[in-house]
Amino acid sequence: MNERLILAIETSCDETAAAVIKNGNEIVSNVVLSQIESHKRFGGVVPEIASRHHVEEITLVIEETLNKANVTMAEIDAVAVTEGPGLVGALLIGVNAAKALAFAHGKPIIPVHHIAGHIYANRFVSEFKFPLLALVVSGGHTELVLMKEHGSFEVIGETRDDAAGEAYDKVARVLNIPYPGGPNVDRLAFKGQPTISLPRIWLEENSYDFSFSGLKSAVINTVHNAEQRGEEIVPENLAASFQASVVEVLVGKTVRAAKGLGVKQVLIAGGVSANKGLRLGLEAAFANMTDIELVVPPLSLTGDNAAMIGAAGAIAYEQGRRGNMALNGNPGMELI
Ligand code: KG4
Ligand code: ZN
Repeated sequence: MNERLILAIETSCDETAAAVIKNGNEIVSNVVLSQIESHKRFGGVVPEIASRHHVEEITLVIEETLNKANVTMAEIDAVAVTEGPGLVGALLIGVNAAKALAFAHGKPIIPVHHIAGHIYANRFVSEFKFPLLALVVSGGHTELVLMKEHGSFEVIGETRDDAAGEAYDKVARVLNIPYPGGPNVDRLAFKGQPTISLPRIWLEENSYDFSFSGLKSAVINTVHNAEQRGEEIVPENLAASFQASVVEVLVGKTVRAAKGLGVKQVLIAGGVSANKGLRLGLEAAFANMTDIELVVPPLSLTGDNAAMIGAAGAIAYEQGRRGNMALNGNPGMELI
């Protein structure tokens, strides 16, 4: 087989990223420029600032990626880019960079769904075995996705309110932990004990949906009640209690869906898949299930990056999916 090289671009939120991927499952180069320092003082991502940084950096990031891969555009087979979902102004920078490169060098353009990308980060770890179940947990999404073949995504459960990462970030704010809260709450949780009683939101018995806003409110109420009574809350214990609730529900629903649907593999994807509590919980739950393989992405590929877009783009390329010069950013894009 000839080598297939995909240049991938990702700018959906606050990372300016590009990568060169070989044959869909090998990283040749992967550059991620985080804007976290610029957004930190605002306590969250400011869309206008994100767009401005992407404009300033995208050309340099792509150049650096090609240099590190030691390839020229002439050797690239196709340009993959995140079409959505994400911040519209941020997406547009990546999409326009991809269109310009594709047009100038006569290469096909492959539009990629950001969540498909997160799922395909696992392809650098293991070949996919279908049917598989992906637990997607990011700042904007919490979903259980059934895949029966490459490039096909069936959302069997999703959050009805906050995403898991969003709940982490909001709880972090209540505990005065700086942005991005998720990783810091995770670290704090391992220094405490789950001594505070918090709800597990299971919803209807057969539902694969999630809800985290009630848990978030319970955390906020716990803090306010303690303040009013003049009592001290141990942040480590509150973080441990919150994490225990999130992990129990995520693991419980994933295990039930995996068994119920008879899948061969379970993958985790998205920023929250870096969570140590979640990884340990899933590893323990699947340790004795010899017929289901648990796949976790390397920590370097859990956050937003372009390598994952290249992995998903390579499959889309083989399946003949192409964009054209009318391609736009699609902030509310559905995973199908
Ligand atoms: O996938 P991602 O980088 O961006 C989106 O596509 O949304 O996910 C970012 C989210 C943030 O909410 C961040 O706080 C959360 O992932 N996150 C974590 C951890 N690392 C990142 N949440 C919990 N524990 C972590 N270790
Ligand atoms: Zn993401």
